[in-house]
Amino acid sequence: MRQKIVAGNWKCNTNLQEGIELAKAVDTVVASKGADDVVVVLGTPFTHITKVVETVNTERIGVAAQNCAAEAKGAYTGEVSAEMVKSTGANYVILGHSERREYYGETSETLNKKLALALENKLTPIYCCGEALDIREAGTQNAFVKKQLDETIFKLSSDDFKKIAIAYEPIWAIGTGVTASSEQAQEIHAFIRGTIAEKFGNEIAEGTSILYGGSCKPSNAKELFANKDVDGGLIGGASMKAEDFIGIINGF
Ligand code: PGA
Repeated sequence: MRQKIVAGNWKCNTNLQEGIELAKAVDTVVASKGADDVVVVLGTPFTHITKVVETVNTERIGVAAQNCAAEAKGAYTGEVSAEMVKSTGANYVILGHSERREYYGETSETLNKKLALALENKLTPIYCCGEALDIREAGTQNAFVKKQLDETIFKLSSDDFKKIAIAYEPIWAIGTGVTASSEQAQEIHAFIRGTIAEKFGNEIAEGTSILYGGSCKPSNAKELFANKDVDGGLIGGASMKAEDFIGIINGF
């Protein structure tokens, strides 16, 4: 059985104190109500990671950075390396989020460097892909996503590929309140799994966790997660309230 994952992406929200309060609240509800076959991950700002690692039960909750540097170390003012992230006790890193691609010019080339460094430092990358509205309207989303995969994670060795999770996040659904329908999600997740099977074989494809992201909330998580190729979610807005987040986790 492949791993079910529900990961929160706090983005650039919460100061340190608020972040710790949120982590504590999630930790408490996960301990009391969380389905224990689901890996729960908190994607916090860099400044919060160490404290969040100390705050939560890390046997139960993983901690993720939302990015890492494309270089291992050196004169790159303001950057945070994969090794630094790992040294805090975090074990995941979100890579290739559409906001980073769009606002910070992240290309496939940059992402390949980040993926390599994350894997070298034993961080599990949650690799994001997904199309903008015009591409969805033109009906070319599958080809678009396939190209994103071809240029990045499909270049990994099969041993490395097995260590990553994928998040399909249609840009038109992120933070908009418009969620992909259950059918739309299943259709493209199945497509992604099919392309993984073509590239790396069935066994690896069946073992890869593919998360859905984009306005996922307690009211729609159950329907989305019921799909055979949807293995969890990457949650932005609804991860900012512990009760909503746990509501999503319990969507399984
Ligand atoms: P959202 O964000 O849940 O607020 O739509 C998801 C994401 O950007 O990862």
